Amino acid sequence: MESLIFAHRGSSATHPENTLSSFQAAHELGADGIELDVQLTNDHVPVVIHDLTVNRTTNGKGQVKDYTFSELQSLDAGSWFDSKWKGERIPSLEEVLDWMKDTSLLLNIELKDGFPRFPELEKNVISLVRRFGIEDRVTLSSFNHYSLVEAKRLAPDMETAVLFMEGLYEPWDYARRIGASALHPYLPAAVPELINGALKRKMPVRVFTVNDEDLMKKFFEAGCSIFTDDPGRAVQLRRNMCEQ
Ligand code: G3P
Ligand code: MG
Repeated sequence: MESLIFAHRGSSATHPENTLSSFQAAHELGADGIELDVQLTNDHVPVVIHDLTVNRTTNGKGQVKDYTFSELQSLDAGSWFDSKWKGERIPSLEEVLDWMKDTSLLLNIELKDGFPRFPELEKNVISLVRRFGIEDRVTLSSFNHYSLVEAKRLAPDMETAVLFMEGLYEPWDYARRIGASALHPYLPAAVPELINGALKRKMPVRVFTVNDEDLMKKFFEAGCSIFTDDPGRAVQLRRNMCEQ
């Protein structure tokens, strides 16, 4: 199976994660796709940020779900990474899709649904993806598999993928049962029997997060796709492997 390179939170090794600059850099570096994390604000706007709080990646404090979208816009989401990114904002999913629609990038939207789940997260995300007409380039994934079932119920035509960190046994059966068509395992859980069994059944395996060159090479050789913080390095390595 073809090995694709997804920029994890954008080119997050070189840019502040989950920002437009980070996604644009990933595109310029030649990534096949980007991965981003989505949550809802207090006024139900899907926004792109990984942690449940804004503490680590902005100059603010508190939970994302307690901010309105306009309040979130006043936070600086770049300086924590490097002062040269001062003024970078937390993007709305809408802004990212609006930029992405004119590229050929694939997009993995990770639904950051915990317990309790965000009411309307799946519905609002799917309706945005439909508005931009990019359903065929999007995969919805989540560690919360109730969220995947709900997404599939609302959008049977869209791809869902099972995110997991545990040693799931023959997870292709489980994935199919909940309507998912790809596996997104944490690196240590991506064992050979899982990779071989899934690929034999034509189920893509996309491993997160792979930043080490030897591991990148190993997963490319096995026919897996990867999520990486360093898409520039991965693209270069895959190019070198193809030329050999
Ligand atoms: O979707 C792959 C990966 O992003 C899952 O873990 O915590 O980086 O969102 P996390
Ligand atoms: Mg993620």
